[in-house]
Amino acid sequence: MPADPVVFRTTANVIFGPGSLEALPDQVGFLGGRKAFIVTDPGIAAAGILDRVEGLLGGAGVEFASYTEVEPEPPTTSIDKCAAAIRDASADLVIGLGGGSAMDTSQIASCAVANDLKTDAMIGVEQIPGPGLPMISIATTAGTASEITGNAVTVLADRSNKMAVVSPYIYPNVAIVDAELTYSVPPTSTAATGIDAFCHAAESYISVKATPHTQMYATQALDIILDSLPRVAADGGDTEARNGMARGSLFAGYTLANAGTVMVHAMAHVLGARARIPHGIANALCLLPAMRFYVERTPEKIAALADPLFVADSVTGGPARAAAALDIMERLIGGLSFDLDLQSYGVKREDLRDMAEVTAATKRLMQQSPVEATADEVEQLFESIF
Ligand SMILES: [Fe+2]
Repeated sequence: MPADPVVFRTTANVIFGPGSLEALPDQVGFLGGRKAFIVTDPGIAAAGILDRVEGLLGGAGVEFASYTEVEPEPPTTSIDKCAAAIRDASADLVIGLGGGSAMDTSQIASCAVANDLKTDAMIGVEQIPGPGLPMISIATTAGTASEITGNAVTVLADRSNKMAVVSPYIYPNVAIVDAELTYSVPPTSTAATGIDAFCHAAESYISVKATPHTQMYATQALDIILDSLPRVAADGGDTEARNGMARGSLFAGYTLANAGTVMVHAMAHVLGARARIPHGIANALCLLPAMRFYVERTPEKIAALADPLFVADSVTGGPARAAAALDIMERLIGGLSFDLDLQSYGVKREDLRDMAEVTAATKRLMQQSPVEATADEVEQLFESIF
C-alpha cells in the first residue's frame, strides 16, 4: 500500500516584490476580466491605496466598481452583503484589497456568487462545489497571508466563534504581495500582523499535518520574522525589514495553507469572535499559554521548534531545548508593546468557561495539535492570561 501522497497547494500566480502592484491591470487581462469588483474597507480607502488601485485600472482602460464596506472580523451576513453587491454590479472578476478581512470577504463572496450559495452553507472543509469568479488578492499587511491560503474565516451570526471556509476554490488565482503597501501600516497593526505570521510558521511547524514541504517554508519564515519583526515594530520606516516581513509572511502562508495552525489560533478565534480582539493581538495573547501547555505536556515535540528558532547546539535534551524555544518566543512577545491580559480587552472572568468549551470544540485545529487540550485545560490557559 503506497503512503498517502503529500498535497501542497498554493495560489498559482504570486507576484512578489516592492512595486508589484503595477502588474494589476495585466493580471486582470490574464484572467480575462471584463469588469472588476474591488472589495476593500474604509481604512484602505482613507489611506489612498484604493485611489491608487482605481487609478491603475482606469489608466489601463479596465472597467471596475469599488466596494468599501468590509467589516473587521467579518460576520457571515457582511460577506453575503458583499456577494449581493458583486451580483448587482454584474462583475466577472473580484479583487480583494486589504488585510485578512478584506481578502477573506472577497474570496468567500466570489465563491458565493459563482456557486449561488450563502456564506453559512460554505463553512467547513470542502463545502464549495465549484470555482468562484476569478480572483486577485492584494495584501496590504504582512501577516494574514490570505492571498495564498485556501482558508477564509468568518464570524458566525451569533458571534459565538470564528469559523473557516476551507476549500481549494478559496485560493485566489493571483496574489500580489507588494511590501510598499505595508510601509504606512501603523505600529500596533504592524506588530499584530507580524505576530500572526510568526504563529502561522511556528504552529504549522508542530502541527500533525506538517511535512518536509511545509517545514522548509516554516523554517525560512521563522528565520526572517525573528530578524525583521522586532525591527519593523521599532521603526516602521525600516523598508528592508518591511520587505523581509512581506517575504516572511508569504512563506508562513505557504506552510499555514498546507499544515494548518493549532491551539494558539483556536483560542485566538474565540477571542476574535467574542471580544472582537484583532486577530494578530489575539494570537499574541494566546501564543505563550498554548506553547507553555505543549512544552509541559509534550516537550519532545516542541523541542523540534528549537532548530528553526536557532537555539544553541549546546542546549541538549528535549525538555531543555523545548524550554529554550519557549524563551525565544517569550522574548519576541515581550519586545512588543501589547497589553497581554484579557481584562484589558474587556473579557470578563465569567466568560472564560464558555470560551474554553468553544475552543476545545474547534476540532479542526485542536486535532492537528501535538497534544489535544480539554475544555478544563483551556480554561486554565485563559485564566493564566486573564
Ligand atoms: Fe492567522
